[in-house]
Amino acid sequence: MKLGSIDITKRAALAPMAGVADRAFRRICADHGAAFTVSEMVSAKALSMGDRKSGELMELDDRARPTAIQLFGDDPDTMANAALLAMKQQPDWLDINMGCPAPKIAGNHCGSSLMREPELCHRIVKAVCGAVDVPVTVKIRKGYAKDEVNAVEVALACESGGAAAITVHGRTRDQMYAPPVDWDIIREVKRAVSVPVIGNGDVTTAEDAARLYEHTGCDLVMVGRGALGAPWLFSQIEAYLNEGTLLPEPPLAHRLEVLCRQVALAVELKGERSALLEARKHASWYLRGFRGAAILRGEAGSISTMDDLRRLCYHALKENEEL
Ligand SMILES: Cc1cc2nc3c(=O)[nH]c(=O)nc-3n(C[C@H](O)[C@H](O)[C@H](O)COP(=O)(O)O)c2cc1C
Repeated sequence: MKLGSIDITKRAALAPMAGVADRAFRRICADHGAAFTVSEMVSAKALSMGDRKSGELMELDDRARPTAIQLFGDDPDTMANAALLAMKQQPDWLDINMGCPAPKIAGNHCGSSLMREPELCHRIVKAVCGAVDVPVTVKIRKGYAKDEVNAVEVALACESGGAAAITVHGRTRDQMYAPPVDWDIIREVKRAVSVPVIGNGDVTTAEDAARLYEHTGCDLVMVGRGALGAPWLFSQIEAYLNEGTLLPEPPLAHRLEVLCRQVALAVELKGERSALLEARKHASWYLRGFRGAAILRGEAGSISTMDDLRRLCYHALKENEEL
């Protein structure tokens, strides 16, 4: 897939995930073959007001390129201003969030609630495209609600505003993240627009990725929750799509090694306290499906230091007789 002059050679990208896909996780996913990575969503309004935390969310890792910064907001001028500020981090492109269902975002006329106003979507994309000279992409949902399915209309509005690609998550805002996901809507958008379309929703195996490509004709697949505790999914997808090889799930020892690498990286970036607090949920994802997982998840819920993490890994290996 090509985004402006950027060649994207791999087949599955990591979805933006606030509070989860931080710099450390994005780097680990890039190391495992993610086609690109996207920052956690950043508020254009907060950024324009000089909010320090929003500035930090935009920090990028050169080793996770190509990489984009995702902005959310509802005012075209504020979004254009934020886009200029974001460019200081030298992202390969900017992405606009038109899909977030969270009440804090959608209830504030941002994220998925923008889909109720395709003309506003068009103006936001146009304003951001006018402010920067990198490609601008948009991430949308199927629509706002069951009786407000308008992904095709919104995608066309964004394309005419200058969007270089559209990511479609096949659920409405009302569905949040609950099944079923609708891949047909991704196919409809793909048929309607001429820019690349990135399909998203419920890819958790290499075979799912192949099916999503097949079903929708999309140009790239984006993986969110399926990569949590399983960043090797990207290499599994590459191997399956390129060579038809189904790579096995890695053994526990390898999983825990990747977990420790991710957390050590997070410690470097945000300090031990904050990194280990966030590592609690990552650790339980990495342990999913193993013997004693329920008890180990309980232990993961109270780790506070790298030593605690190492102890947890030791217990997990012992429980699963890999020591
Ligand atoms: C914890 C979490 C945080 C998310 N944060 C964002 C975000 O910041 N921006 C965004 O566009 N989508 C966000 N999403 C949506 C994902 O990018 C993706 O569209 C959704 O999870 C569906 O894909 P999946 O089935 O592969 O997980 C988030 C999803 C989750 C689970």
